[in-house]
Amino acid sequence: MSLKIEPLGDALGAEVSDIDLSKPLMEEDIAAVKDAFLDYHLLCFRSDPLAAEDFSAIARLFGEPQLQLIRTTRHGEVPEISVLDSTYKNADQKPADFKLNRKSGWHTDDSYFEVPAKVTLLQSIEIPKSGGHTRFCNTRKAYDDLAEEEKRRIDDLKAVHAYDTMRAPARAKKRTKEEEEETPEVVHPLVRTHEENGSKAIYFNPNRTDRIVGMERKDSDALLDWVNETITQQKYRYDHEWRMGDLLVWDNRCLIHSVNVDFPVGQTRLHQRILLKGARPQ
Ligand SMILES: [Fe+2]
Repeated sequence: MSLKIEPLGDALGAEVSDIDLSKPLMEEDIAAVKDAFLDYHLLCFRSDPLAAEDFSAIARLFGEPQLQLIRTTRHGEVPEISVLDSTYKNADQKPADFKLNRKSGWHTDDSYFEVPAKVTLLQSIEIPKSGGHTRFCNTRKAYDDLAEEEKRRIDDLKAVHAYDTMRAPARAKKRTKEEEEETPEVVHPLVRTHEENGSKAIYFNPNRTDRIVGMERKDSDALLDWVNETITQQKYRYDHEWRMGDLLVWDNRCLIHSVNVDFPVGQTRLHQRILLKGARPQ
């Protein structure tokens, strides 16, 4: 095996080096990468920005790409790629209170779909000189650490996920009529079991989870606030400081993420993203 895999911290994540993503990979390297992905939940490949076709080919090692909801960001030639430009074009776009930038809210990608994306691949194409880190929390570790009684309390609960919820501090992107019709409320288990290794993780999206099914709003909010505090503790967290071309692959089934939106106005922050088809959370 030619590549190297090293942990990025105690909470989650590993860095994969000595690998050229623009060339076909050896079978044993692919197998090692897939094993590491299940163990670490996030892999960082240090790379140069990849051509769209090469990026798509890497994504296909992990699963099947799916089209993303928002049409305007789709790549012209490879539509499963979304090109995400988070640059502040002018000072008005940068809120004084970062909570008002939707990206700063913790979330797991696309949980408002009945069948959310299992994996996200995100590669930086251009990065600002400072700030803009993407932060992650390990909700599998958070679940594992719960007391048995706490696990029993939440194990069988179901939660409603919506495109937007008033629980989130910032409002979601506007949808077209067509996009609205594609995104009715959905119900997911609050604790989900990973299809590939049977592990359990808390499946909570602070930007999209609106309420617990069958609970009064007050009680539901109190429980979700507790879940939120529990899973975002420092010990479950890894902050990724981007280098140009870094390609992150992460598991949406057991991680949540958010962005440190404190980057300078006028410096380009550009990523390409692919989401992989998942299974209905169980
Ligand atoms: Fe995201």
